[in-house]
Amino acid sequence: MRIPEETVERIRQSSDILEVINDFVSLKKRGSNYIACCPFHNEKTPSFNVNPVRQIYKCFGCGKAGDAVRFVMDIENIGYGEALRYLAKKYGIEIEEQEQTPEDLLRQNERESLLIVLNFAKTFFQETLLTSDEGKSIGLSYFRERGFTNPTIEAFELGYTLDQWDALLQEGQRRGYSRDLLEKAGLILIKEAESGGNRKIFDRFRGRVMFPIHNVSGRVIAFGARILKTDKNQPKYLNSPETTVYHKSQVLYGIFQAKQAIRQEDVCFLTEGYTDVISLHQAGIKNVVASSGTSLTTEQIRLIARFTTNVTILYDGDAAGIKAALRGLDMVLEEGLNLRLLLLPNGEDPDSYVHKVGAEAFKSYIKEHAQDFIDFKAGQWLTEAGDNPLKRAEGISDVCASITKIPDPLKRQTLSQRVAQVFHVSEQSVISEINRLLRKQQDQHKKDSERKQRPTESGKQPQNVSPTVPNEPSLDDINALLDGLSVSSVDFSAPSGITPSQPDTPQHTKAVKTPLTYQEEECIRLLMNYGARELEPGITLCQYVLSELHEIDFQTPPFDLMLTIFREAYSRGDILTAGDFLNQQSDTTTRFGDIDIQQQAIHLTTPRYEISGGWLKHEIFVPSEEEIGILADAAYRNILRIKKMLAEQRMATLQQLLRESANKTPEEADQLLTEFMHFKRIDIEISGLLGTVISG
Ligand code: UTP
Ligand code: MN
Repeated sequence: MRIPEETVERIRQSSDILEVINDFVSLKKRGSNYIACCPFHNEKTPSFNVNPVRQIYKCFGCGKAGDAVRFVMDIENIGYGEALRYLAKKYGIEIEEQEQTPEDLLRQNERESLLIVLNFAKTFFQETLLTSDEGKSIGLSYFRERGFTNPTIEAFELGYTLDQWDALLQEGQRRGYSRDLLEKAGLILIKEAESGGNRKIFDRFRGRVMFPIHNVSGRVIAFGARILKTDKNQPKYLNSPETTVYHKSQVLYGIFQAKQAIRQEDVCFLTEGYTDVISLHQAGIKNVVASSGTSLTTEQIRLIARFTTNVTILYDGDAAGIKAALRGLDMVLEEGLNLRLLLLPNGEDPDSYVHKVGAEAFKSYIKEHAQDFIDFKAGQWLTEAGDNPLKRAEGISDVCASITKIPDPLKRQTLSQRVAQVFHVSEQSVISEINRLLRKQQDQHKKDSERKQRPTESGKQPQNVSPTVPNEPSLDDINALLDGLSVSSVDFSAPSGITPSQPDTPQHTKAVKTPLTYQEEECIRLLMNYGARELEPGITLCQYVLSELHEIDFQTPPFDLMLTIFREAYSRGDILTAGDFLNQQSDTTTRFGDIDIQQQAIHLTTPRYEISGGWLKHEIFVPSEEEIGILADAAYRNILRIKKMLAEQRMATLQQLLRESANKTPEEADQLLTEFMHFKRIDIEISGLLGTVISG
């Protein structure tokens, strides 16, 4: 269903990129911009940049870039329409569209449909809890018993599902949701008919209290469902299966309700269960999430790392809890986070303990008993080791192994002192143990990567070298031709009807940036930023560039496409600006195949605060191109370089043809040589204009 154009505009106008992004990552001010570690790729130093003035973001690490809508699309992995709806909800903008019909749903992509049907199920379970007799007498009274208040039930959108076979299925179908969709959302089960019997279709969750699992932005993506009777044959908690929208290893229960508090408190409490999260939240300790049902994963830790660098693990004090804590410990360190651990008194989990002692006592218990990982591990080892020196050595080695996981060498160094103190050994022996382990890991790493590299070695990318100036016809010949040549203008048309724009070298792959790619990119960048500027009275940069590039196509697909767009617009009398590319809003019009014009446009209009070696080498970086003289010079050189590179390409091809001249008539060979010299002349001429040295 379409959102009216004015509404789209209103949503765009209201959306502030800082507010939108801050819901997902913590931004820090840096100059006039804001930075963070990129949520789209794994990194430890921030290269994700947000520009509040231009309302765009760009990651200098992975290249992701866009505006607020784009950000929501990418981070939530949803389409354009869904992203607009998300922003509309955030900014309280009403979208005047009719109720979704099943047909509309079909048209949306699967992910969006699943989110909608899951939201329907959540609401249905809530209503069942609060309004049905069974819901009230069984579900609600269970939550009351556990001490959950109404605001808590509301905040976590808790629900109940009747002890019937198909309550949800019936209601879902009545609302027009297909069985297929309900099944894909993990809400119903379809058992194929056995011989003679009927196919059975029924609700997955029956007679349970329901805990919706939300993603970071608060959409329901799955459910956890707790049984209320004691039935040894059934699991206590039944969880949604993996679906298109639910990957349990990437989800933390409670992250939506906790993220604000995690950012404020600058620490995240990590627990094991649904009820731990809910009870602590109700007690006012809101910076808490649970890995519920899985052992902690790296993806989950990275999710936390979006909001804070400090994690405190709060697990049960039993053997299973200790084991789980030790398992999580190295992973948290590896992600560069600061870690503390706390085991609750035996037999207690955070839920039971906070009910027992209250919020204040719970908080001071954390303060007093949370240990850093060295004390925590040492504690485990020293109780076990006693006086046994071998066990102690094993313990030291184990703690050192965890230290080697920490990416920051400075941190590692300060920690070795602590280990020495705790185990009463010399710091030197700790340092040498850490170094020994690091060396071992490096050796292992090398071996692994060697093993990985070997099979692909033969298929390695050849280095893309620019064609060198051929030496077959003597330079004297050419110099003779050059006598008296005027250098005021460079005519690029080939003498014998050969189109010089034809790519003579094989299309380079995406990963390799050739010198020509740099220049093509630079050309588009100039057009996009300064197209309308007059290089001299009456001649705009756009006009100059397009007339110089008459009959020349670019060889790199995105730039060629953009050049074509500039051309088409110019033929209609328009000079496009970056804004025209950025504001091509519908996600279908900005994508041509796998070329994303909006991304390219942002990339090309973002000042290069990082000057990479590549750019310097190609002499493209222009510090103050705002000045007309410098800008004109940049445009002039860019065009010359492009022409020079094309000439070199063509010469390389001609040289190849000349070498294979065995079965050519003298006339044909002559023709090739003439053409070759035409391009050679151009090449030399351009070199002169560029002031570069002619080599060979
Ligand atoms: P617990 O058994 O400790 O449950 O499992 P709990 O959270 O304390 O629940 P209550 O207090 O008995 O109601 C910890 C977590 O492990 C997952 C759930 O996420 C649970 O919250 N779990 C447990 C399952 O997924 N399935 C199970 O059968 C049991
Ligand atoms: Mn419990």
